[in-house]
Amino acid sequence: MKKIVFATGNPHKLEEIQLILSDYTLIGLDEIGCDEEIPETSPTIQGNALQKARYVVENYAVQNCFAEDTGLEVEALNGEPGVYSARYAGTAKDANANITKVLTKLEHQTNRAAQFRTVVALILEGEIYTFEGIIRGTIQTRRTGTGGFGYDPVFVPEGETRSFAEMSIAEKNKISHRAKAILQLKKFLVDS
Ligand code: IMP
Repeated sequence: MKKIVFATGNPHKLEEIQLILSDYTLIGLDEIGCDEEIPETSPTIQGNALQKARYVVENYAVQNCFAEDTGLEVEALNGEPGVYSARYAGTAKDANANITKVLTKLEHQTNRAAQFRTVVALILEGEIYTFEGIIRGTIQTRRTGTGGFGYDPVFVPEGETRSFAEMSIAEKNKISHRAKAILQLKKFLVDS
């Protein structure tokens, strides 16, 4: 089985993506001895994805690697929290507090439109490639479901009545932002 490093410390992301990239064994950061917080200081989602992939290649004995960055973009909040999705309510990366902040800001809003956007950055043999995936949907007024992570309990994808947190990983993977970006990565890896 071919192996590739996925620059994430998030076990949810590793599990979701491993199910899609089933021809590869994904190597997480802990397996390459990286337990530090990789800097994510770019003002864009794409920039952060690239920064993470580059950091691993430059600082560890890794040649080929991919990373991803995701943001929730809420229309009525002019695209917030966007690139700041992880620390929207502070530096603690508290998913529950982040959701509360979004719900509070949308309290009197009828426009609940939002989207998740993922950018995957791949470094392969020294070249950089990027892939993007978007899923549109709406922000509910309350949390439902116990699965998933992050903003999943309040995000209902277009054409669905359940939040991502009410779906199995396989169901989320059929339609999600991350799955769409990773499917492009998969096609690219197969073709190259
Ligand atoms: P990052 O890509 O790990 O920096 O994630 C940015 C923020 O978006 C974090 O708060 C995550 O919890 C959240 N997030 C990323 N992907 C998802 C998802 O698939 N569902 C819900 N929240 C997500």
